[in-house]
Amino acid sequence: MPNSISSGARRWRSSRPRRIAHPTMAIAADQRLCLFGRTGSGKTTLAKRLLSSFRGRWLCLDPKWDFQLTTREGPVPIVEAYNPKLSQQILRVVPDEGELARYDEAIEQIWRDGESLLYIDEITLINPSRVALRPSLGKAVRTGRSRGLAVWSGSQRPKDIPSAVFTETEHFCVFQLQFKADREKVASFTGDNIASALKAIRRHDFVYYNVLDDSAFIARQGR
Ligand SMILES: Nc1ncnc2c1ncn2[C@@H]1O[C@H](COP(=O)(O)OP(=O)(O)O)[C@@H](O)[C@H]1O
Ligand SMILES: [Mg+2]
Repeated sequence: MPNSISSGARRWRSSRPRRIAHPTMAIAADQRLCLFGRTGSGKTTLAKRLLSSFRGRWLCLDPKWDFQLTTREGPVPIVEAYNPKLSQQILRVVPDEGELARYDEAIEQIWRDGESLLYIDEITLINPSRVALRPSLGKAVRTGRSRGLAVWSGSQRPKDIPSAVFTETEHFCVFQLQFKADREKVASFTGDNIASALKAIRRHDFVYYNVLDDSAFIARQGR
């Protein structure tokens, strides 16, 4: 809930980067996550790590044609259309005029199927509007939880993302952001402490913010 973000005591465990092998984040299967950061900051790398350890079904929308992952079961299939038979898949749609309709179709299908995680590697490419979510995505973000569908969003431009995505998110991982406007947008949802931490973090560090208990820390992914 947006109110709980700005109210209550804010626990700030560390203002200096801490090196930890694995981010100590407990993200339940039905909870939402945002991964923000400038190009090259490490969003996709973190998403791969988190998805690798996720036991359930997931679909990655990959509008940048950038996402590939090999797990213990082998390479995750890259598909041109959502395949309900696959438990893990990466959807790559050829960029053309029908691109967004094909993403809509996949989002609608995964919403109907439920019990899954939907990770969108650059949400502004799937949802070009800054204010409104396209109907398929709005439905997934707002009502997915009741169907066991959790939406994870990645972006380099949080300023360009409709607020509904922020208000429906429990977990934020925020890497270096290129523009002040993006840092301010994130801080408007996560609080001023996060804003100052964002200015201080190094490349590949990220600020983790948990909406549910209003806690935050700076994390560094071990490599
Ligand atoms: N924790 C890290 N330490 C060192 N290099 C990293 C780390 N995370 C990512 N990288 C490297 O930085 C580059 C960009 O990472 P990537 O995850 O693709 O960023 P993004 O998705 O934010 O554009 C890649 O070459 C990746 O290997
Ligand atoms: Mg990326």
